[in-house]
Amino acid sequence: MRAVLLASALLLSASLALAFKDGLLPNGNFELGPRPSDLKGTEVIGRHAIPEWELSGFIEYIKAGQKQGDMLLVVPEGAFAVRLGNEASIKQRLKVQKGMYYSLTFSAARTCAQEERLNVSVAPDSGVLPMQTLYSSNGWDSYAWAFQAEYDVAEIVIHNPGEEEDPACGPLIDSVAIKALFPPKATNKNLLKNGDFEEGPYVLPNTTWGVLIPPNIEDDHSPLPGWVIESLKAVKYNDAPHFTVPQGRYAVELVAGKESAIAQVARTVPGRTYTLSFSVGDASNSCEGSMVVEAFAGKDTLKVPYESRGKGGFKRAVLKFVATESRTRVMFFSTFYTTRSDDLASLCGPVVDDVKLLSLRNPRRMG
Ligand SMILES: *[C@@H]1O[C@H](CO)[C@@H](O)[C@H](O)[C@H]1NC(C)=O
Ligand SMILES: *[C@@H]1O[C@H](CO)[C@@H](O)[C@H](O)[C@H]1NC(C)=O
Repeated sequence: MRAVLLASALLLSASLALAFKDGLLPNGNFELGPRPSDLKGTEVIGRHAIPEWELSGFIEYIKAGQKQGDMLLVVPEGAFAVRLGNEASIKQRLKVQKGMYYSLTFSAARTCAQEERLNVSVAPDSGVLPMQTLYSSNGWDSYAWAFQAEYDVAEIVIHNPGEEEDPACGPLIDSVAIKALFPPKATNKNLLKNGDFEEGPYVLPNTTWGVLIPPNIEDDHSPLPGWVIESLKAVKYNDAPHFTVPQGRYAVELVAGKESAIAQVARTVPGRTYTLSFSVGDASNSCEGSMVVEAFAGKDTLKVPYESRGKGGFKRAVLKFVATESRTRVMFFSTFYTTRSDDLASLCGPVVDDVKLLSLRNPRRMG
């Protein structure tokens, strides 16, 4: 009897795991659109006019190549996107596994000069993502936000809390995707969690601009498990198919100078010597010039200069320090702002990857 119960529980969890697949939400790229009778010009009429989504407020259905004033609207995935007017929101319910961590990724573009924000929520969590800085040259950026599922069904809401005078101002949204996160643990091979950044948000395979990980204020559910984005601005998560990545499939690009930093607190033994080793390089994205990455381990710091020709490459650096506390904060930021040499506008910066923290007490065993 118990064996049967156990077997069926195993089957059930296996089928649950199978049911969930990382990638676009159903109609996550809005390619299935409203019927002509549900459209008034570009405005979508009716809560259920776009398949799989529940709409609220002023929402427009945008076709690639459509004009707004002199601006030609570009759509990153397929031929359609939506625009969220003031106080508009889109919602979708998705089966998830209670207690698991998930990361949402979506693409968004500003269409007016104003600073815009989006409130992403899966009750009881929510996060307001600022969209004020340009990182990619076509106007679209992808953003990540993570949550822990409190229920078996996640009600995913993207809401524009803006109050612009012009209702045609309001961000465009496309390609909403989700990924289950498996937060890694520290081991005796690395006292930092996810030091190689291999666990992180979903990167939309058809986008070439990486994913921005916005600053998180109260963050135990980071889209970059183990790491917290400190200070004001985002860091960028780069994938190997579109960028040079020093190790593995993913790396972090410090795109906002001293205004964006990644940090993690590690357990240490006071008085013991440690080495913090890491790669500094460039993503091969026309980000050129003299760069400096500043690394911190408690009160110790190391400045690592890197000359980038924007064509990829990296070097290793080591910060050796003696821990003074039982918890040591490790942090990285870029000293300077850099902009890409191909468009002279979008922000870029040095890449950090493969961060390892090791105790020197028994180097052979810690290998
Ligand atoms: C974001 O949306 C959630 C869910 O609707 C709400 O509880 C929260 O107050 C909103 N946050 C802001 C800053 O508007
Ligand atoms: C990427 O683009 C190709 C060609 O446009 C399309 O067939 C494919 O479905 C897209 N991939 C995703 C994940 O949307």
